[in-house]
Amino acid sequence: MTQDELKTQVGQAALRYVEDGSIVGVGTGSTVNKFIEALASAKHRIAGAVSSSLASTERLQALGIKVFVASEVDELAVYIDGADEIDHAGYMVKGGGAALTREKIVAAQSRRFVCIADKSKYVATLGGFPLPVEVIPMAARRIARQFEALGGAALLRHQGGKPLVTDNGQHILDVSGLTIADPLTFEAQVSQWPGVVTVGVFAFQKADVCLLGTDAGVETLVF
Ligand code: 5RP
Repeated sequence: MTQDELKTQVGQAALRYVEDGSIVGVGTGSTVNKFIEALASAKHRIAGAVSSSLASTERLQALGIKVFVASEVDELAVYIDGADEIDHAGYMVKGGGAALTREKIVAAQSRRFVCIADKSKYVATLGGFPLPVEVIPMAARRIARQFEALGGAALLRHQGGKPLVTDNGQHILDVSGLTIADPLTFEAQVSQWPGVVTVGVFAFQKADVCLLGTDAGVETLVF
């Protein structure tokens, strides 16, 4: 099966976790785009969605799904999102699509995080994928040096020849060379550095379930 087919498979499987009449938390990325397509076929049985990015909001609205502002809504039953890496405990690296801050906010508002991912995302230890970190621009160089002290190499993410600007008006550092053996401690530590908006380790907001796309079908991992 191609990676695209695996993503379609898990996007459709995630519909099982959508409760009738509910507002669904929706993430960002190519795997989530498959979920959004599947959700459109079930839109009559949901009240709408809370979205983690402008890109997902546009897609949802284009398919006729009502999008609520996160601050207008109390707790969400479920948040469905992809990951760049997920480990055996449900800890993740996210932010490849630069939407990590809003993703963490919507995840924190949700009772259950269902991660949808193809098998290439399942890893023994986080850190192989360069870790996205959203930063306030004036702090970017100092934060890059703090990562160097941990053995990482931080690069400012660019788009169209200019530093990428997130939905929140900030920049992204991508940090390679890290081995994140203790995701909870790492997330707590880096989150305290002045100028860090959000670190792309999702340990406090880990997945509760992962629907993993494999050639043999969708595997359900419960953490
Ligand atoms: C966006 C994310 C995505 O969930 C992550 O990058 C995975 O994306 P894809 O499904 O396209 O591989 O965290 O900020």
